[in-house]
Amino acid sequence: MNYRQLGRTPWKVSDISFGAWAIGGAWGDVDDKDSLAALNKAIDSGVNFIDTADVYGMGRSERLIAQLKRDRKEAITVATKAGRRLSPHTADGYNEKNLTGFIEDSLRNLSTDCLDLVQLHCPPTDVYYRPEVFGFLDRLMEAGKIRYYGVSVERVEEALKAIEYPNVQTVQIIFNCFRQRPAELFFGQAKARKVGILARVPLSSGMLTGKLTRKSQFAVDDHRNFNRHGEAFDVGETFSGVDYDTSLDAVEEIRALLPAGVSMAQFALRWILMFDAVTCAIPGAKTPLQAADNCAASDLPPLSDAVMDAVRGIYERKIRPLVHHRW
Ligand SMILES: NC(=O)c1ccc[n+]([C@@H]2O[C@H](COP(=O)([O-])OP(=O)(O)OC[C@H]3O[C@@H](n4cnc5c(N)ncnc54)[C@H](OP(=O)(O)O)[C@@H]3O)[C@@H](O)[C@H]2O)c1
Repeated sequence: MNYRQLGRTPWKVSDISFGAWAIGGAWGDVDDKDSLAALNKAIDSGVNFIDTADVYGMGRSERLIAQLKRDRKEAITVATKAGRRLSPHTADGYNEKNLTGFIEDSLRNLSTDCLDLVQLHCPPTDVYYRPEVFGFLDRLMEAGKIRYYGVSVERVEEALKAIEYPNVQTVQIIFNCFRQRPAELFFGQAKARKVGILARVPLSSGMLTGKLTRKSQFAVDDHRNFNRHGEAFDVGETFSGVDYDTSLDAVEEIRALLPAGVSMAQFALRWILMFDAVTCAIPGAKTPLQAADNCAASDLPPLSDAVMDAVRGIYERKIRPLVHHRW
């Protein structure tokens, strides 16, 4: 496992880290035993950074991570998120009282007295134009409730706005073979300001593992079923907002590029790590096998220029018209 500096924080985090949404909820049935096994396998493989949110199973994901931290002696840094428990989810809801309440709940769930990193959880765009919200986070830092804060964004433009605030340490954004726009302008700006980047949905919701087919079925409580068209939240969070059949066709083209002995998931993750502005990818994993497969990407040799060009070509031809102008 390799490690990269996370923005201006003191932490060097595993370049393949762990996304803990699926072990909380919205991905079909998951067993806490399997989830803990997956988390433990990730730590065994050198992962030292986990991304979660208060809303993932309404505390379930955070509580599993607290359990993991009790069971392990390694230093594990945890990034959580706040804001998505608001209903309705409005910019006005991002006030000091609500944010403080969400932080208190996360402190309890994670069994700690100070949160390592708190990210605003894809707030409405307007929030980025309200400096007072970032002031509330500064006050939570001063009060010793949170060490650092960042944002999780839907759109590149939100990311560019967010990093104008001097204490924003990290930006979490969808970045994968099917979502390449962040690399154009945003990565350079983030690097210049020493802002860490967490690449989320790195496997395009499992699509880039190459295991899905036209016949794959998803449980009713799996967002790959219930949010296929953005019914519950931003459609970009499900298969990166690329329609299923187009994704499958593009995956077959990517499959043809695989070096011998490399899995599709490893290839997709190694592709992300080719961008040095990225601090880490945060693939979700529900089982130890998935966690180990993903972690192995860190130690793969770099992809060749020809392979990088080929992935870019697939994106330009098949994917770009569907996503580039949207996020
Ligand atoms: N708004 C936000 O801030 C936001 C939104 C989305 C995600 N995130 C964060 O980003 C993380 C990653 O994104 P994601 O979980 O949505 O999608 P992802 O990492 O692209 O896909 C994860 C899913 O792919 C499957 N998978 C993973 N590794 C595999 C492997 N090696 N082989 C086969 N299948 C594998 C698993 O599901 P199955 O086994 O069921 O196929 C797993 O749950 C999340 O966990 C969360 O921490 C944040």
